[in-house]
Amino acid sequence: MIVAANFKMHKTRNETKEYLDELKKIKFNGVKVAVFPPASALMEDKIVGVQNAYPAIDGAYTGEIGLEQLNEFNIKRVLIGHSERRHILNESQEFIAKKFDFYKNQGFEIFYCIGEPLEVRKKGIKEVVEYLKTQIKDIDLEYENLIVAYEPVWAIGTGESASIEKIKETHEEIRKLTSKPILYGGSVKLNNIKEIIELPNVEGVLVGGASLDVETFKEMIKIAKDMK
Ligand code: 13P
Repeated sequence: MIVAANFKMHKTRNETKEYLDELKKIKFNGVKVAVFPPASALMEDKIVGVQNAYPAIDGAYTGEIGLEQLNEFNIKRVLIGHSERRHILNESQEFIAKKFDFYKNQGFEIFYCIGEPLEVRKKGIKEVVEYLKTQIKDIDLEYENLIVAYEPVWAIGTGESASIEKIKETHEEIRKLTSKPILYGGSVKLNNIKEIIELPNVEGVLVGGASLDVETFKEMIKIAKDMK
């Protein structure tokens, strides 16, 4: 089971440090825990991954960080393809695939996000699958250090997670495309995590808003531990 926290643009370096210290007071017992703080809060810690990175060692890429900056903190885990980067920062599939290849070649553990917007979901599962396939173009879905995260855009930050039925049917479809772990993300909370991770083809969760409170995130890890 995998339980991951995406802080997005929340928390400072000091707050992240306090959070990690608190988090480590519990035993993970085989649950893989990952925390993605903002780039300004990166630190050397096995749990920590980066929310975004440019596909280069270094160079003239204003505002970006690359391998050199990640190496300073021994970061070996990256989130790629998050819907906020696809839709707000306008990252193309071509660029996302470039990032994927670069960090794959560096042996990084890649949390690769896919998810459809509401207008596609409304058309039905067939269209959802077609859409998701456009988001895996040129991605090696059997890369050994890959973790896929299915995050429907309409469920992210809305407080309204996808229904159990929709998560089940979509993960079943994604399972046909990869043998790697598949996480669900999108308004995962303390009151729905259990029924989500109990589903077949759900190997864990990627949590945004609800992960910001360390006590809540610890409880989530405990629930995942009990599931094993
Ligand atoms: P929320 O849990 O806030 O809906 O965010 C999900 C997400 O985007 C995690 O990457």
